[in-house]
Amino acid sequence: MSTVIRGGLVVSPAGAAAADVLVEGERIAAVADPGSALAQAWATAADRTIDATGKYVLPGGIDAHTHMEMPFGGTHSVDTFATGTAAAAWGGTTTIIDFAVQVKGTSLLSTLDKWHAKADGNCAIDYGFHMIVSDVNDESLKEMEACIGAGVNTFKMFMAYPGVFYSTDGEILRAMQRARETGSMVMMHAENGIAIDQLVAQALASGRTDPVHHSLTRPPELEGEATSRAIQLAKVTGAPLYIVHLSASQALAAVAAARDTGQNVYAETCPQYLYLSIEDMAKPDFEGAKYVASPPLREKSHQGDLWRGLRTNDLSVVSTDHCPFCFKDQKELGRGDFSKIPNGIPGVEHRMDLLHQGVVGGELSLSRWVEVASATPARMFGLYPRKGVIAAGSDADIVVYDPTAKQRISAATHHMNVDYSAYEGMEITGQVSTVLSRGEIVIDGGEFHGKAGHGKFLSRDRSQYLI
Ligand code: URP
Ligand code: ZN
Ligand code: ZN
Ligand code: ZN
Repeated sequence: MSTVIRGGLVVSPAGAAAADVLVEGERIAAVADPGSALAQAWATAADRTIDATGKYVLPGGIDAHTHMEMPFGGTHSVDTFATGTAAAAWGGTTTIIDFAVQVKGTSLLSTLDKWHAKADGNCAIDYGFHMIVSDVNDESLKEMEACIGAGVNTFKMFMAYPGVFYSTDGEILRAMQRARETGSMVMMHAENGIAIDQLVAQALASGRTDPVHHSLTRPPELEGEATSRAIQLAKVTGAPLYIVHLSASQALAAVAAARDTGQNVYAETCPQYLYLSIEDMAKPDFEGAKYVASPPLREKSHQGDLWRGLRTNDLSVVSTDHCPFCFKDQKELGRGDFSKIPNGIPGVEHRMDLLHQGVVGGELSLSRWVEVASATPARMFGLYPRKGVIAAGSDADIVVYDPTAKQRISAATHHMNVDYSAYEGMEITGQVSTVLSRGEIVIDGGEFHGKAGHGKFLSRDRSQYLI
């Protein structure tokens, strides 16, 4: 099957240019000047033509931080790999990297098997895994190597959630030393969980139980402190470091300072920290529970710094941390005790659209949008140039995006398997019109044409950012 995408503006981190994209089977065969003989020949010979006049042609979005079917606090996130990857495709994301979660007392490799059993044969788009290491011991440190061999070379650790995912500084140091030895990378959830747990206990003991106290007991200083500590541990070990879901100005300042010294430190933020705030968590009638995630939503004053960080590359990636729990039957578990509200916000469907508002509003250039949403995550996580670029030889993961279409985000129309939207009613300029995953049409004309099982597991190479 051959396809030609004609008349669009092809966008990359290097710029944007009018070009026709020629697809043969699963791969991009050529990117041709619209007036060229090659483009003319394909215009007549291709099995299928997609008219992209007036539209952007983007490398498919890569969401490097999702949680499908994730066990948490006695329940699990409600998107399956089937529903979550379909929703991702609706929003122009053609690759996800999800987190396999090691339970204490179990091995990394059995964890990986468990996550393959959930995902394999069920995804509409391609997917990879990171490994959450919650039990640092001789055996799991040794197993990191086998994980890398199995295509999983990024290991998330937690400075938060004592008793669950938490690792001590000593454990983190040992894992970083292994990362340094093996050419892999530690991803850090940087919040000081030991101090936070004291603040949480004090709040609950004094009757402060509403959702907003989730944010008030996790102050930005304790994200800044943990981020700085993680950076120092990385420096001592010589390991690279990737800070996940950075939300606070204090944490950004620590990352920027480390990067200014030349340290190999990277960070991502998420759309919820760019658009939502602690004011949402203070909504009455327990509605604030919809916005409970960790790190928590901050005061709006942090948002300008995050946008600036995206421009200066102190923030290099935008991922969603998609972790959907229903308002009615799951967030409800924490009514009367905010610490029991399952942590997470849905968003895998709306990352490209939400970031495009940054382009419309002058916060990000068109090229930078594509860079933080596709090209850099591909490079950061060992998928480039298979993913993250529109070039001959790359997978034909392509989004045709209409920059002038208008849409309104709503739970009534979204495709995520969750009963609310954190962005309910938000007016969006721009919308996906067509999505190809390895040459197959997944979304077109407002319809889903994908199928569960089309998506393949991505065995990832070493990060291109490692020195
Ligand atoms: O609240 C969140 N972010 N839930 C997902 C787990 C994590 O820490 O990323
Ligand atoms: Zn986290
Ligand atoms: Zn997460
Ligand atoms: Zn439900």
